[in-house]
Amino acid sequence: MREEGGYTPRVTVIIPTYNEADAIEERLNNIYSQDYPREKLEIIVVDSASADGTPAVVEKWAEQHLDIKVLLIREEQRRGKANALNHALRYATGEVVAIADADALWAPEALRRAVAKLADPTVGAVSCVKRPLNGRGIEEGYRGFYNQLRVAESKLWSTPIFHGELAAFRREALEAVGGFPTDIGADDSYTATQIALRGLRAIVADDVLCTEAVPRRDYHAWRIRRAQHLIQHFAKAIRRLHKAPPPFRGVLAAEAYLHVVNPWLLAGAVAALAASAAAGSLPALAILALGAALLAYKPYRVWTAAQAYLITAAVKNLWTKELIWKKQKK
Ligand code: GDD
Ligand code: MN
Repeated sequence: MREEGGYTPRVTVIIPTYNEADAIEERLNNIYSQDYPREKLEIIVVDSASADGTPAVVEKWAEQHLDIKVLLIREEQRRGKANALNHALRYATGEVVAIADADALWAPEALRRAVAKLADPTVGAVSCVKRPLNGRGIEEGYRGFYNQLRVAESKLWSTPIFHGELAAFRREALEAVGGFPTDIGADDSYTATQIALRGLRAIVADDVLCTEAVPRRDYHAWRIRRAQHLIQHFAKAIRRLHKAPPPFRGVLAAEAYLHVVNPWLLAGAVAALAASAAAGSLPALAILALGAALLAYKPYRVWTAAQAYLITAAVKNLWTKELIWKKQKK
C-alpha cells in the first residue's frame, strides 16, 4: 500500500456533541495537540441542543486558541448524530473529513497516520483501533479480539465496521455516497461500507490508535444499543452485497451472518438442549453443563456475551431503532 508521510491535505475534524460538557475541553486539546500541521486543520463542533452548557465551553476554548479554525454549529433541536454530521458536512472545506466522537481521545500521531493512508488513491476511508478506558474485563476481551479482526479484514480489502471515535474519509467519497445515513444508527460503519461497495478501500489501521471511555453503570444498555445499530447496518448493507468487489464480498457476507443470523443458532441450540434436558436427556444436560463450565474461559465468555447482546438488540429493534439515544454516563 502506498503511504506518504508528506501528504498533508487540509482536514476538517467534525466533533458531534450532545451533552459533552465534561469531555469536550480535553477533546479539543487532544485535537489541538495532534502532530499535524495546525494551519491545515479546521474543527467543526456540531451541537444538538445540549442542556449542559457544551457550546459555551467550546466558545471559550476557541477564544483561547485563535491559531486554529473552529466553527461551532448549534442545532436548536436534537435530531440525532447522523443528521448533525450531515449538517456539519455542508460547512466542511477539508479534502479529508475526520469524525471525532467527543468522548474518545486520539494518540498524538493518529490523525497524521490516518491521513497518510489516504495518500493511496485506492483508499477512501480510515478508522482506528480502540482501547477501552476504565473498561471492564469483558470490554477489553471483546475489543482485543475485534480489533484484530477489523485489521485482518482491512488487509484482505476492507472492513464493514468503522469507529466514529476516529473515522477519516476522503470528502469526495463521503459526498459521493450522500453523506451519513439517517435511517439507521451505525453512521460510521454504514458509510465506510458504502465507500467500499463503490470500489475504494475502507480500512482500520493498526497504527492508528484511540481510546474511548466505557460507561460503568449502563454498560449493558450501551452494548445493546451499539449492537442494535450494527444489526440495522448489516440488514441494510447486505442488500447491495452483489455490488461488493470480490475480496469484500466474503467479508461483508460473513460479518452480516455473524451479526444477524449466528446469535440465533446459539439461542436455538441452547433452547433445544434445555428442552431435551428437561425431558430427561442426560447427554443434553451434559452438553449444557459443559457449555456453562466453559464460561469460566474468558474468550468464550466474551463471545457468549456478545451473542446475548445481539439477540437482545434484534428483539429491541422491533420497536425502537435508538437513532437518538440516551447519553450513557462514563
Ligand atoms: N450533534 C449530536 N447530536 N451529537 C450526538 C448526538 C446528537 O443527537 N447523539 C450523540 N452524539 C455524539 C456524542 O456526543 C458523541 O460525541 C458521539 O455522538 C457518539 O455518541 P456516544 O453517546 O458516545 O455513543 P457511542 O460511543 O456508543 O457511539 C458509538 O456507536 C455509535 C453508533 O452506534 C460510536 O462508535 C459512534 O461513533 C457510533 O455513531
Ligand atoms: Mn462514545
